[in-house]
Amino acid sequence: MAKIRKAVFPVAGLGTRFLPATKASPKEMLPVVDKPLIQYAAEEAEAGGATELVFITGRHKRSIEDHFDKAYELEAELENDGKTKLLEIVQTILPPRVSCIYLRQPEALGLGHAVLCAKPVVGNEPFAILLADDLIRNDHKGVVEQMAEVHERTGSSVLSVQEVPHNETAKYGIVETEKQSDGMLRVVSIVEKPAPEVAPSNLAVVGRYLLTSTIFDKIEQTAPGAGGEIQLTDAIAALLKEETVIAHPFEGKRYDCGSKEGYLEATVEYALLHPELGESFRAYLKELEY
Ligand code: UTP
Repeated sequence: MAKIRKAVFPVAGLGTRFLPATKASPKEMLPVVDKPLIQYAAEEAEAGGATELVFITGRHKRSIEDHFDKAYELEAELENDGKTKLLEIVQTILPPRVSCIYLRQPEALGLGHAVLCAKPVVGNEPFAILLADDLIRNDHKGVVEQMAEVHERTGSSVLSVQEVPHNETAKYGIVETEKQSDGMLRVVSIVEKPAPEVAPSNLAVVGRYLLTSTIFDKIEQTAPGAGGEIQLTDAIAALLKEETVIAHPFEGKRYDCGSKEGYLEATVEYALLHPELGESFRAYLKELEY
């Protein structure tokens, strides 16, 4: 079964929930402690086997390109000052075997449309999609690697899913599933942001997908849906009529960093786990008197 070589990062959204922080800078560049969200996602994709990272960018996305680019002046300065540890940090943001490709989504016409922009680069290979504002912590095996294993066993597309409270179904794509004889969950139907009364389950699709290239044909045939956007969910609904799509209840803790609350939770927990900051930050939190 094909390994995953390509990962697509749609980063052309407007990030309205995080204004004004996202007015001139993409939400994917928001740092959690000392790394921007997009770097956590790139590291997860690389750990899962991806060697080509495809960024679908929009306005104000130069900072993402700059982040993964070589920074000659900064590196020269750190070298001159003998700051070797910092120099290593900026030089090893990505391993040398990984290449970055930047494509522009001219208008924010929806996640499905953003993914379609990657078609000329992805071709007919299966590929991963990561929405970097979903930060998922798993210190042993990232979600891309988990999905790649499911794909290697089955050859199918894989959606990472998580149970959410029933009253939150309208925030997610929700799947209805059926257990197969091998124990895996086959997706029977998928619907974007259903109200709790009509949601087929409380199993929500999160920002990690592994899809076969058939999805591109399906997106091309998808008319604008909820919110006037070309929805990836609608294209997946068409895909699963033709191919098996597996729902993978991923292992790891997810932080919705597209929301202020989720972002703050991630910041606090990553700070507490940080090898250099953890101890003193824990002591600081204990002393807080609010
Ligand atoms: P969201 O639904 O989170 O939208 O997009 P958003 O614009 O980024 O954020 P809010 O809701 O206004 O705060 C899901 C993902 O799809 C990408 C976003 O960058 C995000 O990673 N996206 C969305 C695109 O790349 N292009 C689009 O046209 C829409």
